[in-house]
Amino acid sequence: MNKKSIIILAAGAGTRMKSQLPKVLHKISGKPMLYYSIKEALKLSDDITVVLYHQFEKVKAEIEKYFKNINFVIQDHKNFPGTGGAVMGITPKYEKVLVLNGDMPLIQASELEKFDIDATIVMSVLKLQSADGYGRVIIENGNVKKIVEQKDASSEELKITTANAGIYQFDTKFLLENLSKLDNNNAQKEYYITDLVEMAISQGKVLKPLIVNEENFKGVNSKVELADAEVIHQNRIKKEFMKAGVIFRLPDTIYIEEGVEIEGESIIENGVSILGNSKIINSHIKTNSVVENSIVENSDVGPMARIRPDSKIVSTHIGNFVETKKAILTGVKAGHLSYLGDCVIDEGTNIGCGTITCNYDGVNKHQTIIGKNVFVGSDTQFVAPVTIEDDVLIGAGTTVTGNVKKGELYLTRAKTKTIDGYFYKHFAKKTNEKK
Ligand code: UD1
Ligand code: MG
Repeated sequence: MNKKSIIILAAGAGTRMKSQLPKVLHKISGKPMLYYSIKEALKLSDDITVVLYHQFEKVKAEIEKYFKNINFVIQDHKNFPGTGGAVMGITPKYEKVLVLNGDMPLIQASELEKFDIDATIVMSVLKLQSADGYGRVIIENGNVKKIVEQKDASSEELKITTANAGIYQFDTKFLLENLSKLDNNNAQKEYYITDLVEMAISQGKVLKPLIVNEENFKGVNSKVELADAEVIHQNRIKKEFMKAGVIFRLPDTIYIEEGVEIEGESIIENGVSILGNSKIINSHIKTNSVVENSIVENSDVGPMARIRPDSKIVSTHIGNFVETKKAILTGVKAGHLSYLGDCVIDEGTNIGCGTITCNYDGVNKHQTIIGKNVFVGSDTQFVAPVTIEDDVLIGAGTTVTGNVKKGELYLTRAKTKTIDGYFYKHFAKKTNEKK
């Protein structure tokens, strides 16, 4: 494949999203839409320019979290609005330049490679049931004549179902020579990149339409399209893991973010969300559990458990209604109803139902360290910071406020009081009062 430059258009306001957030920062599988165009572009080129305008600082800062070595340019949107205006003033490094839209989160490098055709313009064409929302491709005698935007189209042209997918490869020289000839005589008073198609034809240049598939080139302009694109993206993520040996029960109900890794013979049950940079290795995540930015290895989690960021759960059983956060658990059983935050718990330790690490004093967070083979009775609170050494027994209902030494029993319990027949005395009095 020849070296080429890539320009990604991301300056539009995204009015149809009806949102304060710039369109290209709306997320698909946990990452901004623009992230995906750049990620795929980087597989093909070392000369990538992203065109920004609306809230450019916000978009730039977000994208720089993920990518370095990207050129950003600010469109002269006031004087030259539109997709044509967006490419003005850029000098691509290579002889060919691929122009992508930043609102196409489903594009893939393997599809973009198909644009590697020797022509002045290679344009992407979609054959659809309904081309609503897209520019229409006008074909006469089998040849492309021009592209008409939806807002400029006549009622006859609106019936056309052949659409412009919005990705083009240009001969750089042609692009630079013709951009200044664009005008804004159209419904939106914008400079359209699509008008270059008609110009190339009138100059007798070679124009090659490339038929592409909507699954990869879907433009996202509204929140309906955002949700539709995310479904396609989610299916891709889950299919890749299934091919690698992961079991998904009722996959349509499972949400896995971009960046998650799942390895080995893992089972993911219905309703599970796995977020951020989580890594699941040979583990079983049961119904309706959430795992966020954590590692789960050789363990079972849930149903209805929440593994919050920076937890590392290894060879451990986590049962229902257990929440962890910054918890390093190795060889532990925590079967029911617990909050385990800012803690390190070692092998052979059993965490009884209702155990709580009181990690926050209202100002700072403190750690709980529990050693090996500790038996924590139900309804125990650890008022951190505390350290529990190995082989300790903690009685049910205990509030641990100090360190516990190896081999000890630790128990805080009020002395039990019993009064014989008190029930009858108490209620007899109440009944008499009512009378
Ligand atoms: C565009 C095409 C349309 C095509 C569709 C495919 C034009 C005029 N129309 O329409 O033929 O069917 O894509 O999805 O090109 N942008 C800028 N600066 C601007 C305006 C837009 O950078 O001044 C960026 C947007 O951020 C977006 C991309 O260009 O990423 C496309 O803009 P959008 O407004 O979504 O164009 P469409 O109406 O979808
Ligand atoms: Mg669009």
